[in-house]
Amino acid sequence: MTNSETKATLSFSDGSPSLDMPIYKGSVGPDVIDIRKLYGATGMFTYDPGFMSTAACNSSITYIDGDKGELLYRGYPIEQLAVNGGDFLETCYLLLNGELPNAAEKEKFVATVTNHTMVHEQMQFFFRGFRRDAHPMSVLVGTVGALASFYHDSLDINDPHHREVSAIRLIAKMPTLVAMAYKYSIGQPFVYPRNDLSYSANFMHMMFSTPCAEYKVNDVLVRALDRILILHADHEQNASTSTVRLAGSSGANPFACIAAGIACLWGPAHGGANEAALDMLESIGSVDNIPEFIAQVKDKNSGVKLMGFGHRVYKNYDPRAKLMRETCYEVLNELGLQDDPLFKLAMALEKIALEDEYFVSRKLYPNVDFYSGIVQRALGIPTSLFTGIFALARTVGWIAQWKEMISDPEQKIGRPRQLFVGSPTRTVPPIDKR
Ligand code: CMC
Repeated sequence: MTNSETKATLSFSDGSPSLDMPIYKGSVGPDVIDIRKLYGATGMFTYDPGFMSTAACNSSITYIDGDKGELLYRGYPIEQLAVNGGDFLETCYLLLNGELPNAAEKEKFVATVTNHTMVHEQMQFFFRGFRRDAHPMSVLVGTVGALASFYHDSLDINDPHHREVSAIRLIAKMPTLVAMAYKYSIGQPFVYPRNDLSYSANFMHMMFSTPCAEYKVNDVLVRALDRILILHADHEQNASTSTVRLAGSSGANPFACIAAGIACLWGPAHGGANEAALDMLESIGSVDNIPEFIAQVKDKNSGVKLMGFGHRVYKNYDPRAKLMRETCYEVLNELGLQDDPLFKLAMALEKIALEDEYFVSRKLYPNVDFYSGIVQRALGIPTSLFTGIFALARTVGWIAQWKEMISDPEQKIGRPRQLFVGSPTRTVPPIDKR
């Protein structure tokens, strides 16, 4: 970072000398104050649990303006990418390489990804070690981590070609692993990928074909899945992406780092929210029960949250939620499910919450997960796999951010500090004196 023209001066009321710290400007968004010299100069750390005011890296991949409700991948608004930006693999290319592909670049990229969709035949034995009722996220944490033991030829993180090959392998094999997790859970045989299908159509094929009946590709449903993937592809320095970066900062291999990201994504405050939102709608059951549910949400002692609402960064409507609501209409119309009771319930709940003072004053709006569960359910995806689909989509974002970090000359092992509030040094007493 060399663009500092201004400085912040920190002065102390205890008479310690004041300290100048450089201020850097981003291309858009808030400036940052470089506090790296603070500890050396003052012996003090900063305190910022939850990273409320801390930028942990510089990045040129994804930008969110939470007040405007804007999400950009490499400068392109998510609305344009979702509507006119081609398919998910174009978004993958954009996130990885910084530019949208031209026709020749796209053809080459699609061919490369497609040629890596199979997993090593030995992988099936990892699946068979799991209980059939294992949560798919637990299966994915294990099997994605296990990929590292198969691809020793692409684990040198200091070799740009190895990094590229690992990136392609992860993007190509995630749909295969997610579909295998599903097939295993329902006791059906694994279905091999088909390289004549698009990325999303092939995923539907691996999910829904059986040896007795081939899945018939429906373009509307494939487009809906593609949109889910595009909308979830990256989201700057969220919890799972920061986990991937932190794991990668120690030099861990990319498969291990993505497995760490999947583990973090599993939590209900993050990727697990789509599953939790659908469970919530099912437990509310009918529009008549909404007032009682909203009263529980407002009661701080109940521990009940309106899942699929609120976001650390968006303090305005999540732009992804608007697009997902559109997709919801398209999919339900295509399947003749316009009167789907869960969708009606979701719309009634959204309307009531958006007019309620509790949500308005806290700037709580629906996020992408409020609608993505309804779309996925209509596509035939079971609730427990929703977060697995999120992981599939986010893999490209994680790997793009990991690659960016590895090539950043300022990259260092991540090592937060702490405010220690435990016991100072003391002497171990003999056991009869404790
Ligand atoms: N339902 C009810 N109250 C809420 C909710 C909610 N969903 N979200 C936030 N609040 C309240 C919160 O209790 C607090 O109230 P008060 O000021 O009275 O203490 C206020 O709003 C501020 O919330 P916060 O917890 O300080 O906000 P945060 O930035 O730490 O948390 C969040 C963000 C997403 C974890 C939270 O909004 C939440 O748990 N939402 C539900 C889970 C969810 O839908 N997560 C998906 C996020 S989008 C997909 C992804 O990127 O992973």
